[in-house]
Formats: sequence, C-alpha cells, structure tokens
Amino acid sequence: MSSAPEPTRRRTVYIETYGCQMNVSDSELMYGTLAAQGYDAVDAPDGADVILVNTCAIRENAEQRVIGRLGDLKRYQRRDTVFGVTGCMAQRLGPRLLEQASHVSLVVGPDGYRALPQLIARAQDGERDVFTTFDLEEHYAAITPRRFDGVKAWIPVQRGCDYRCTYCIVPYTRGPERSRALADCVAEVREVVAQGLTEVVLLGQTVNSWTDGTHDFADLVRAVGAVDGIRRVRFTSPHPNDFSDRVIEALASVDAVCEHVHLPMQSGSTRTLKRMLRRYTREEFFACVEKLRAAIPGLGLTTDIIVGFPGERDEDFAETLSAVREIGFDDAFMFKFSMREGTPATRLPAEDLVADDVMADRFETLVATVRSGAREKNLTLLGAEREILIEKGARKGELLQGRTRDFKTVLIPGDDRLIGQYLHVVLTGTTGSTFTGRVLEATPTRASLPIA
Ligand code: SAH
Ligand code: SF4
Ligand code: F3S
Repeated sequence: MSSAPEPTRRRTVYIETYGCQMNVSDSELMYGTLAAQGYDAVDAPDGADVILVNTCAIRENAEQRVIGRLGDLKRYQRRDTVFGVTGCMAQRLGPRLLEQASHVSLVVGPDGYRALPQLIARAQDGERDVFTTFDLEEHYAAITPRRFDGVKAWIPVQRGCDYRCTYCIVPYTRGPERSRALADCVAEVREVVAQGLTEVVLLGQTVNSWTDGTHDFADLVRAVGAVDGIRRVRFTSPHPNDFSDRVIEALASVDAVCEHVHLPMQSGSTRTLKRMLRRYTREEFFACVEKLRAAIPGLGLTTDIIVGFPGERDEDFAETLSAVREIGFDDAFMFKFSMREGTPATRLPAEDLVADDVMADRFETLVATVRSGAREKNLTLLGAEREILIEKGARKGELLQGRTRDFKTVLIPGDDRLIGQYLHVVLTGTTGSTFTGRVLEATPTRASLPIA
C-alpha cells in the first residue's frame, strides 16, 4: 500500500509597500504572481521565506526611511530567506542597492515583476540579480492581483509617464507612458464587481491622458461606468493639460463617477510652474478648475503642492498661497522640494536653491493656509446629507470610517459588518478635516440605490 505523498510546505511571502497607489497596486500584482507559484501572503516578516520591500523614490526622505527599514528587516534573515527590493528605488539604484545591503539578493524595477518567481529561485541558489529593463508592453496581463482591500479596487490603466516635470524622478523610475487596452481595463472592473467590490480607482501618473490609439479617457470612463453593479469610479492623478472638454463631459455625465478630482497644482506662480515644466500657467490652472466646477456641481477638489522649488521667490510663494485661498481646495498633499539625482532640476544654478529654514517657514505657512481654508469649507457642510461607503474600522474606538462621493472622511458608530455598505448620513460635526455623521433612517437618495 503506498502512502499519500508528503504535502509540500507552502512557502510564504511578505511585501512591505511604500509610495503611491501605483505601488500598492503593484504589490497586489506581485502577491498574485507569487500566489500562482504556491506562495501564501503573510502580514509580518517574521519567518517569511521571501521578504520584499516595494519602494518609492519620490523624495530623499522616502528613500532614507526605506534604507533604514531594510537594515531593520535584516534581523528576520534565516539561512534561506530571500530579500528583495522592488519598485522605484530598485529601478533608480539598481546594483548600488546590492552593494549597500549585503542581505539583499534581488533588485527588481516596476516592469520586472513577471520574472519574480524565476528571480527568487535564482536567489535561493545563491545568485544576486538586478532586473531593471523597461518593457513598454508590460501591463501584467493574465496575472490576477491578490487584493487586500475588500471595498475598493485599484485598476492600473496606464504605466509610466511622458511628462518631464523638472523636479520629478518618476519618468526615470517608471519609464515611458503606456496605456492598457480598454477591453482589459473593463474586464478587470467586471471581475472585481463580480467579487463584490463596488468602487474602482483608475490609476496612472497622468491618467486622463490615457489613450489606446482609438479611444481616449472619456471613452474609458464611460466604459467603466457602464459595468453592471459598479457604484463608484475614481481616478488619480489627472494632469491639468489633459482635461479635454470630452473628458470633462464624460466625468460629468457618467453617474458612477464620483464628484472628486485630485488635481495637482504644484505651484500658483506661473514663473515657478514654467521652471517646473508643468506646461500650464496659473491662469490656465484656474481655468481648468473653473471648467471642472461648472461641469460637476459639488465637486471636491484636492491637490499636491511643492514649496521651495529652486528659484522660488517670496512673491512666487505668495502666489501659491493666494491660489490656495482663491481656489479653496478641500485638502492638499504638501511637500518640501527634494532634489532628485538625474532630474533636470539638478542643472539649475546652485544659488537658486531655497534655504532649508525658508523652505520650512513656507511649508508651515502653506499647511496652515490649506487647513484653515479646508476648515472653513467643511464648516459650511455641517447639516448636509451624504451617501457614504463604509471603508474600514476607524482607529478610534468603536467607529467606522466612511467616504463620501466628494471624498470626505466621515466617522459613524457601528460594527464591522457594515464595511462595504452604503449608508445615507447627515454630517453632524467636523474636526476641520474629517466629519462625524449620523445615519439617517430616511429613504436613500437615488445615487445610493443599487443599480438595477
Ligand atoms: N503624476 C502625478 C504626481 C506623482 S508624484 C502628477 O503629475 O500629478 C506625487 C507628488 O509628489 C507630486 O504631485 C509632487 O507634488 C510631489 N513631488 C514629486 N517630486 C517631488 C520632489 N522632487 N520634491 C518634492 N515633492 C515632489
Ligand atoms: Fe512626475 Fe510630472 Fe510625470 Fe507627474 S506628470 S509623474 S509630476 S513627471
Ligand atoms: Fe514613489 Fe514611484 Fe509612486 S517614486 S510616488 S512609488 S511612482
């Protein structure tokens, strides 16, 4: 009598993710690739067979954090643990990472994840590899991502970037822009809806420039919005120059598209924008905001702003502040300029560099200005009714965190069974940035009714 074969031990992989949503989405693809090879995902590095750090290179401090963390992770090394660095720092530093970290045996850029199983196998044989070739065809077709968010799905529709903003490392870490085929994007949306998710976020560095040669972003949004069962469509990040009238019209007319646009401004000074090679003026940015607001009533508008770009004078910064006040953003991600190796900004004259203390002062002023504008706006929303989608438990107490279509965070009491549900609430309080809400018994609005 033959005995049953010993079940082979399932191997485990731990991925730690830094940076933007694109990296979060890439980590899901990496988990998916490895799951197909018999790996289980684990949520702690302790004991994992493979430890990957999916990195971001956008600012110096983002990189410093990862370098520090790589050192910390070394203590989880057993005889056969494979350590890998993936993502934008891997692409940027390549072999330099192998030199800096002796426990790392694998450095893989954003277009190399398909090869992970083979690279890991080689690492187990003692090889140390660097894989940083760009692949303009790569959209990770036929790889099923392993998703961890049970409420919304990241859908990468475009990879890379063809802009050349002078401060930015992304075109060098992610390569040229390429759009994924419309049918593939829509198929992925259908799949996630079939799995019970009702919100998708279309991802790309300049996502509204998406085109497959025949269709534009307007067509993509319409096709995604027409998928049966989809309730919320978001997208990030659009570039102001790529908002054609057709695209705005599509955003305004597709019911599922949420009334929120994250529109990176970077600076309110035309002179600085020019030096950043953003390809729009202050006036053109304002005009874009006006068009969006005219087309989409109740639009939530958030942005990214950099202070201290080389050559930024007091009067330029004052223009950023006035733009923030005049436009009235709902929120902003704000950054101190960080010089990135190899970017065009490195060629600006040294005397243009903004001193650290000046940069710190401007940053503080900007944060206060953005916060007070947001607070003012949010106070006017008290008493308003909104549909929220419950995303997760809140960090505080027995609360749940929901999101309005216009991207406000609302905390309500309730238990985890409500995660993934849509509720109709009235906004009862605000910290200035987030809200508390009370669930209404009243009939849900049309927007919150399930799509038949
Ligand atoms: N593709 C997006 C931005 C991606 S990077 C866009 O064009 O809008 C996210 C944000 O990081 C940028 O919007 C910018 O505000 C900030 N950023 C990028 N490079 C930076 C640098 N070198 N220093 C400081 N902030 C930077
Ligand atoms: Fe960077 Fe500009 Fe491309 Fe955005 S559009 S990723 S800021 S180069
Ligand atoms: Fe960072 Fe790369 Fe995203 S540099 S912000 S992880 S594209």
